[in-house]
Amino acid sequence: MKGVYKRIQTLEMALSLVSVEHEVSVATNAAAAQRIEAQLRAGDRVLEVGAYIGALSACLAAAHPEVHFLATDQAPALAAVGAAAFRAPNLEIARWDYTLKTGCPKRSFDLICCVLGTPTLAESHCICRFPVPHWSDPRESVAERSGALFDATRSVAHPGTRFVAALRLGTLELVAAAVNTARGRGWMLSWADQVVVPASASMDTDQTFPLLEWTLGEPASPISETDVASQVDELSGGRVDLVAGWR
Ligand SMILES: C[S@@+](CC[C@H](N)C(=O)[O-])C[C@H]1O[C@@H](n2cnc3c(N)ncnc32)[C@H](O)[C@@H]1O
Repeated sequence: MKGVYKRIQTLEMALSLVSVEHEVSVATNAAAAQRIEAQLRAGDRVLEVGAYIGALSACLAAAHPEVHFLATDQAPALAAVGAAAFRAPNLEIARWDYTLKTGCPKRSFDLICCVLGTPTLAESHCICRFPVPHWSDPRESVAERSGALFDATRSVAHPGTRFVAALRLGTLELVAAAVNTARGRGWMLSWADQVVVPASASMDTDQTFPLLEWTLGEPASPISETDVASQVDELSGGRVDLVAGWR
């Protein structure tokens, strides 16, 4: 998949790739945008990771000229397409693979967001539906892959920075793995919701994605899956139904 993203050279190529999952993309980005906009203050600096061509940041930058946005993606072609397509004084679009130190922004941000901007976190939820042999336990996969994301975002955050992320995690055990990986890096779960994308002509079943927010504090030890479930329940006002299981 990474190879596909790197081959993109025009806006049309970029948009046709995203159109494969457009219902998911629109619904998750809209929900993340709503949460982000509710919290923006003049002078804030916002970082988007795994931003594709940076369309979410570009929309938010147009609506909030008093806030600065940096949208980043690992694929050089995507960042280049976005930088050419979207221009605004309060918007930068740049290449950054957050698993690498190279290219890491040299500043800290008040709000960070990531809308499905990760490699698939666990093989049981791979969009291609084939297993990744390297990981026998999906929880290990989530811990390893989301660990890189939480480490990288922590390195460009300050105490109190919020991190809003829509993730492709379909069960309580996988959400718990991500929540505990985050806790170990000081990212404390501070808000929760879910995005339901109804079945359509291109998807045979409803899909549900957690939309979670963390606030940076001190690293903390892991908690049980039951405690994660009750924390999510409390923070979402009962809107997120983890125990029922997600697809
Ligand atoms: C499914 S797309 C989602 C893009 C966009 N956020 C959206 O909602 O339409 C996943 C994106 O994450 C990017 N990505 C995956 N791993 C990354 C990494 N380590 N660093 C930065 N970007 C990454 C990919 O290049 C791709 O653009």
